[in-house]
Amino acid sequence: MEASATSKLLVSDIASSVDHVPSNYVRPISDRPNLSIETSGDSIPMIDLQELHGPNRADVIYQIKNHGVPEKTIERMMTVAREFFRQPESERVKHYSADTKKTTRLSTSFNVGSEKVSNWREFLRLHCLPIEDFISEWPSSPVSFREVTAEYATSVRALVLVLLEEISESLGLAKDSDCKASNTLGKHSQHMALNYYPPCPQPDLTFGLPGHKDPNLITVLLQDEVSGLQVFKDGKWIAVHPVPNTFIVNMGDQMQVISNDKYKSELHRAVVNSDKEWILIPTFYCPSLDAVVGPQPMVTPLSYTWVRLCPQQELINEEEESHAVYRSFTYAEYYEKFWDRALATESCIDLFKASKT
Ligand code: OGA
Ligand code: NI
Repeated sequence: MEASATSKLLVSDIASSVDHVPSNYVRPISDRPNLSIETSGDSIPMIDLQELHGPNRADVIYQIKNHGVPEKTIERMMTVAREFFRQPESERVKHYSADTKKTTRLSTSFNVGSEKVSNWREFLRLHCLPIEDFISEWPSSPVSFREVTAEYATSVRALVLVLLEEISESLGLAKDSDCKASNTLGKHSQHMALNYYPPCPQPDLTFGLPGHKDPNLITVLLQDEVSGLQVFKDGKWIAVHPVPNTFIVNMGDQMQVISNDKYKSELHRAVVNSDKEWILIPTFYCPSLDAVVGPQPMVTPLSYTWVRLCPQQELINEEEESHAVYRSFTYAEYYEKFWDRALATESCIDLFKASKT
């Protein structure tokens, strides 16, 4: 353990005892949430998984219903997450670590080691693929935590694989039965964050998380009944209203890279409020750390690509199409940049552009 049980280093423990936000949470005036913004959720399309094929699938952010994750699984996940954060600090802090490479850890803000301004968030981050490699690290309190989280992670992974197949097809990548996603599960990574945003006395001065794009491939978010997630769409921030038993799906930077900019990662942020705690549970589906990410040869289904190093053959037709927008890199390289930059900029992707010849 890196923290003493009395240090009040977690924001939820600070939150209960202050009537203003400590100065390290106060953002520059030019970079604060405008809480009076329009909060219409109508602009985020709602898609039925059964109807995903077709023009809808080209969206980079949408809500999804009929997704196959049982209602009970969702409810249990949200309940156990809430119970986890309501435990005394002495229990939660057993999992505390500021080391961004740890596969199971509790922390606060984003990266306490490198950021200049703090964020009003406490989070538990878990690696969860394959589950058996990590489950013994996960909290054992509440007692149902491991079982509930494993069931949820498994179910969400199945949904992600369906989404990936659809996206593969929409990009014109072959759907080859020998290359089914399920053959390659062990080569992918899946992380979850249980994000806990306690009530904040001055929510107009700080963020739960500032605007950013996710570094991974695709994110599936479960939001509770409090609306705190906002996405940047058509030039403005809009709130995503929670709809029970749906997920929000957004693309991450690796989708932008391997699709050579056909899918763009989506800018989003978390705002806090003064009277309600809220919980957001993203599942981040990503390459394994040693995978080499690059725009894909058009014959390979998305879900299969990380088994082989890529680009493994001539990928982009230099004559007819555009050149490769990004250079190849390992996901480890990308991921390290993401944490080091501590959301000080919205995206890391510009650092990985191919050099123009
Ligand atoms: C998010 C998010 C970062 C992380 O909640 O939107 O991207 O890795 N969190 O925990
Ligand atoms: Ni995010």
